[in-house]
Amino acid sequence: MQNSSMRARRTLLYVPGSDWRKMEKAAGLGADCVCLDLEDGVAPSSKAEARTLIAKALSELDFGNSERLVRVNAADSGLQAEDLQLASHPNLQGLVLPKAAGAADVQTVGTRLQQAEQARSLAPNTLSLLAQIESAMGVVNLKEIASADPHLVALVFGSEDFASDVGAIRTDEAEEVFYARSAVVTYAAAFGLQAIDMLHVNFKDSAGLRRLAAQGARLGYSGMQIVHPDQIAPVLAAFTPSAEDTAWAQRVVDTYEQHEAEGRGAFALDGKMIDMPLVKAARRVLARAGIASK
Ligand code: COA
Ligand code: MG
Repeated sequence: MQNSSMRARRTLLYVPGSDWRKMEKAAGLGADCVCLDLEDGVAPSSKAEARTLIAKALSELDFGNSERLVRVNAADSGLQAEDLQLASHPNLQGLVLPKAAGAADVQTVGTRLQQAEQARSLAPNTLSLLAQIESAMGVVNLKEIASADPHLVALVFGSEDFASDVGAIRTDEAEEVFYARSAVVTYAAAFGLQAIDMLHVNFKDSAGLRRLAAQGARLGYSGMQIVHPDQIAPVLAAFTPSAEDTAWAQRVVDTYEQHEAEGRGAFALDGKMIDMPLVKAARRVLARAGIASK
């Protein structure tokens, strides 16, 4: 099920596809992923214009190392079939599907990506699909969604739409979406997918953003959605292990390897019991820091 595209997706920056100035800016910001939006960031009257502008942006702008994604409209919008034509664009690297409610929604987009791969002479599953879980039905159907299509690389938690779907009242603490937020990260891990966390709509509140991002990282999320350039640095910091965490993880793995060579299992390090789950966690920290370990 795992897609070959295992790139880090710590910052997923949305840009309205109807706003050329912002797309130009987004290209140079160094976000891990830039998501040119056709869905809720674009007014209904501007959808056609946004499709044209996005095609132009993909053709003309240099996005550097940022992954070039487009978010299409939802399955039941009546707009998606036309949006999906952008899959054929030679510079598109993947699609984001909002409001995924079941396997069929994911498969419709996956099939279109497969056709685009053939037309563009790309190897199967080169193009990525990220599915947003942002409704009660999306959470209930997580298992079938997570295993629906081989293009799927990530589940993305949409807290605002989710809260509105179940009638929850959003707070800064985000307790009201905690079950769904935890469910998304759990199913992503079970199916070998990345998990990308909710966004902080109050883009001027950097303390709140740092708190939310740190919480997401602790839950197991590998990245976060963002809507403003100022959100890139704090989110990168939250989802990149600190030098201190990396040094500790390296010591855990090194010490484990010494003990393993001597045929011993659990051991003590700085007064802490270390056994297999902690070694695995340490290896994950090293992987996130971009350090290879066995
Ligand atoms: N991508 C790229 N550039 C962005 C940006 C984004 N998402 N958001 C803001 N900028 C740019 C602005 O163009 C501005 O640059 P400029 O002064 O050189 O033109 C600079 O960053 C500062 O922006 P600021 O004035 O603080 O914000 P704003 O009022 O222009 O825009 C929002 C605020 C919320 C409308 C804007 O951040 C935005 O459109 N975000 C994405 C919305 C979206 O896609 N929603 C759907 C998915 S949830
Ligand atoms: Mg949404």
